[in-house]
Amino acid sequence: MSILKVARLGHPVLRRPAQPVSPRELRSPAIQRLIDDMIETMREYDGVGIAAPQVHEPLQIACLRVRDNPRYPRAPRIPLTVLVNPTITPLSSESDDDWEGCLSIPDLRGVVPRFGRIRVVALDRKGRRRAFIAGGFHARVIQHEYDHLQGRVYLDRMRDFVSLAYVTELMKKR
Ligand code: NI
Repeated sequence: MSILKVARLGHPVLRRPAQPVSPRELRSPAIQRLIDDMIETMREYDGVGIAAPQVHEPLQIACLRVRDNPRYPRAPRIPLTVLVNPTITPLSSESDDDWEGCLSIPDLRGVVPRFGRIRVVALDRKGRRRAFIAGGFHARVIQHEYDHLQGRVYLDRMRDFVSLAYVTELMKKR
């Protein structure tokens, strides 16, 4: 496994919609290795999620996992999940505001509105169809990663930029 280079804001791969992955492609050693490398890269940089465009691959693959994460110390645990060709449907019209960051936009955080509950349909890494309902922080991470697959970043979802801040400044007690 390898740690991959993470694309940063300004690289065009982050702004292009990613392509769906066919079941045959998904079974290929190259894609299985990409998924392993994405997971390793996410762990190395303490991400709670990573999308393939963030490692310069314009494919509809995202990984998430939350477990004792120093970047999100209060976040609930999320088991390691691989979402391929995901679709999401909001189950509530209300949105919740909370902080987000992104490995492609280092050192910054901003308050982003997200749907509180969503239905997710995706393939897992073995090509099996998975459908589930996610809420709260779990739903937030999925919506953030889903956006990456559409060529969007969390800044696009912010209502305004008043909250946008460097993490080191947010940590200071004033
Ligand atoms: Ni991100």
